[in-house]
Amino acid sequence: MTQAELREAFANRFGGQPTIFSIAPGRVNLIGEHTDYNDGFVFPAAIDRCIHVAARMVEGPSQVTSAQIGDGSPFDARAINPGEVGGWAAYPAGMAWVLREESGKPMPNIEAYVSSNLPMGSGVSSSAAMELVFGVLWNHLESLGYDNKKLAILGQKCENLFVGVNCGIMDQMASAMGEEGSAMFLDTRSLEIAYAQVPQDLLIVLCDTKKPRALTDSAYNERRSQCEEAARILGVKALRDATVDQLESKRTEMPDVVYRRARHVVTEDQRSQAFRVALQNSDYDQIGELMRASHESLRDDYEVSCRELDLMAEAAWQAPGCVGARMTGAGFGGACVALVRKEKFAEFEAYVTKTYRETSGIEGALLATRPVDGARIWTE
Ligand code: GLA
Repeated sequence: MTQAELREAFANRFGGQPTIFSIAPGRVNLIGEHTDYNDGFVFPAAIDRCIHVAARMVEGPSQVTSAQIGDGSPFDARAINPGEVGGWAAYPAGMAWVLREESGKPMPNIEAYVSSNLPMGSGVSSSAAMELVFGVLWNHLESLGYDNKKLAILGQKCENLFVGVNCGIMDQMASAMGEEGSAMFLDTRSLEIAYAQVPQDLLIVLCDTKKPRALTDSAYNERRSQCEEAARILGVKALRDATVDQLESKRTEMPDVVYRRARHVVTEDQRSQAFRVALQNSDYDQIGELMRASHESLRDDYEVSCRELDLMAEAAWQAPGCVGARMTGAGFGGACVALVRKEKFAEFEAYVTKTYRETSGIEGALLATRPVDGARIWTE
């Protein structure tokens, strides 16, 4: 939606004009999966699929409407607490709560019209984008002066304590700290970022399996506790601090499933660091091998892939122009990410769409994306 269209949709819904606009992108992760809650490394990029908001302050209560999902439950932004609002309004309400907790100031009530072109259920972090788009809005309205890194941390707190999903920091950092043309190598312990330009001749392609993510929360939490158990047995603060040798030396002291989970995380951290070097050197063979190894490790050791993700990745690996491909995000459905030579994109798209349709019986969707800047007040 353009800003003019959003303004009109706001006027149709609420009457009158919005006074402020904000925007927050979704993300894809190139490599470094299920490492962020182990203090490890991730390599996401904010993508040109975003959530937009038009808003104005009102006496109250707050009313949020989404072009895609409809009206959210009304809430009092000044006094909201966890457990008081469900559905998608939990994201804006949760941000009002977390910002009040942090600043000691109640957030003003708003009317807000939300529009998104981020595919939902595809694992591109529409929830983090929703947190950030409201985070920057209230930050601006109340002149709180928080920077985007701080808003990302608060977004994660909102998701953990208000929405009730125990995620790591990757998605919020990607949506908040994205940079045009670049992916970000993020150390999730120090929150230090090194931006890395995506080579001009490559496209980041989202290969959506159209299999909605299922059972993610319980399986995600189970993986988290298995990682904590491994760290305990290894005597390290987090799996980020463990080496493959250490892990091998304690192999017999841990259940096999815990060993395999830890092996994924420890080797994935190595792959992310190697990927960073390979990208700097435009070593496309190495990039391809690392992405494939990441997918296989997520499939076999971490067990968060599914048939559709495997079929999509396999189709991409064989396709013309493919540099590398793997599942991206939490898993159990959603999308694969592929790095594809720009001039071969049409051939890649035709091959993958056809092959995936034939092997899975599902019509997938391919989307070429571009890295963009992170969440901000939208001045047009
Ligand atoms: C989800 C979580 C992230 C991260 C990924 C897996 O997207 O929100 O914090 O753990 O899964 O890499």
